[in-house]
Amino acid sequence: MTDSQNTIPAKPFLKWAGGKSQLLAQYARFFPTEPMRAYFEPFVGSGAVFFHLRERALFEQYTLSEINTELITCYEAVRDHVGVVIERLAEHNAHHSRDHYYAVRALDRDPAWPTTPSTERAARLIYLNKTCYNGLWRVNSKGYFNVPMGRYKNPDIFNESRLRAASRALQHVTVAARPFEAVLDHAGPGDCVYFDPPYVPLSATANFTSYAADAFGEHQQRQLAGVFAALAARGCRVLLSNSDTPLVRDLYAHFQIETVEARRQINSKAGKRGTIHEVLVLGNTI
Ligand SMILES: C[S@@+](CC[C@H](N)C(=O)[O-])C[C@H]1O[C@@H](n2cnc3c(N)ncnc32)[C@H](O)[C@@H]1O
Repeated sequence: MTDSQNTIPAKPFLKWAGGKSQLLAQYARFFPTEPMRAYFEPFVGSGAVFFHLRERALFEQYTLSEINTELITCYEAVRDHVGVVIERLAEHNAHHSRDHYYAVRALDRDPAWPTTPSTERAARLIYLNKTCYNGLWRVNSKGYFNVPMGRYKNPDIFNESRLRAASRALQHVTVAARPFEAVLDHAGPGDCVYFDPPYVPLSATANFTSYAADAFGEHQQRQLAGVFAALAARGCRVLLSNSDTPLVRDLYAHFQIETVEARRQINSKAGKRGTIHEVLVLGNTI
């Protein structure tokens, strides 16, 4: 590996629904620019905001959490054993085929799967993420991954320098599989918390909520608004992304709401993309 590969900036190594890479430039002026104690991201997904902030080394501590245990296990393995993860991915790459994809997809049907070494689970998640339809992570009611294989001629199954850069960025970072409300037990005055929940759907038929076995509906959006307000009252610096919808504007009516422009898939027909408004809620009361 050359020196330039060794020093590439850390960026997400997964494709994730709702990834924030395209919004970082618009977010820049709302995120902290001065050193602070701790940063929490309770819906981490592919971690675009975390990797961006980590490059700037503003915080003493970082805690990434979310409800998807496979994803959190993947972060642990990339942080602690990136070399082994890369070896396993090289094997998946060498065997990649339709049969291999469906055999790897079926591994979580084995009751022993949750006790499989984290490096195996991480390599499976990354392999499926790079080869499945649209990089989607979707599980059925039993929690089994059920996305069909995508149609990629040459899927980018592993990018060693990107994984090593991510591993470096994850050193000394706490990762935990837990629901968002657990942040209330950890964040204190002066800490920064960024929430990027599954969005309130733009229309009744849009289905953006099925990341995990449990859907994220209006009840959870209301609970989240309560957590946001509690943290703001405690003196945390709180930020939250969501869709620009009447429910979101109502739930955060007492806070500063900024509008950003995002390119998103705007309806279920593949390829139909457009620019839509989203919001970034800031924990300053108005
Ligand atoms: C919009 S995505 C985050 C996208 C991320 N910011 C990125 O750049 O990729 C929302 C994430 O929240 C997680 N999630 C869903 N329900 C949750 C809950 N109740 N508590 C914590 N995380 C949850 C999902 O697994 C999903 O990865």
